[in-house]
Amino acid sequence: MKKIIVAIDGYSSSGKSTMAKQLAAEVGYAYVDSGAMYRAVTLYAMRRGLVNPDGSLLTDELCAALPDIRIEFRVVPGDAASHTFLNGEDVEREIRTLEVSSHVSPVAAVPQVRHALTAMMQEYGKTKGIVMDGRDIGTTVFPDAEMKVFVDASAEVRAQRRYKELLAKGDEVSFEDVLRNVQERDEIDRTRKESPLRQAEDALVLDNDNLTREQQAAWLLETFHRIADA
Ligand code: DC
Repeated sequence: MKKIIVAIDGYSSSGKSTMAKQLAAEVGYAYVDSGAMYRAVTLYAMRRGLVNPDGSLLTDELCAALPDIRIEFRVVPGDAASHTFLNGEDVEREIRTLEVSSHVSPVAAVPQVRHALTAMMQEYGKTKGIVMDGRDIGTTVFPDAEMKVFVDASAEVRAQRRYKELLAKGDEVSFEDVLRNVQERDEIDRTRKESPLRQAEDALVLDNDNLTREQQAAWLLETFHRIADA
């Protein structure tokens, strides 16, 4: 069986991370959550006061700080999933808050941020045997990936999923705020100049609204074997 690159792209909260993680575990591949990397840079910017109260960025200062930002994924005791580390600190929980979510799209629209993170991702993929999810993995990061999947799901279904996750973590949020955040991020991700979210021409589409988790997992695994075993 040859080692391949699996690129899973789609809108925020489309369930792509869950399915990417599961596929990676099933086939013994590394999993990289590229959204977590954009979130970690956003958290760094927020902590350094590089995000203005109106949400705009001190872009030059952020770009100057990029060489100082180190992002790693590490396995931690007591959790099967690896955690995101920012300059040596476990920030897995903090990067998932609605506050980070509401500032991440402008950060992800900065070309220098995208170039720096894309280079890091391409480095992770050098030895193949990797599942990566994001927005532009099949179009920009790994345009030659052997398996490309684009996950489609309505904004309402995605907001409902995110809302439940945040409530389960004890975050006090309203469904309306979560839906608005999902819609705003869709708009920014779709319309930004640099690597906008779009389906790669050779991506297989997975419609997440109408399939159960089990059906999605089965489809992904079957598709993986069809490509990797060929
Ligand atoms: O998948 P997520 O919601 O955790 O991603 C967080 C943000 O990062 C999202 O609003 C868009 C951005 N992102 C991106 O621009 N490109 C990627 N490859 C992954 C995420």
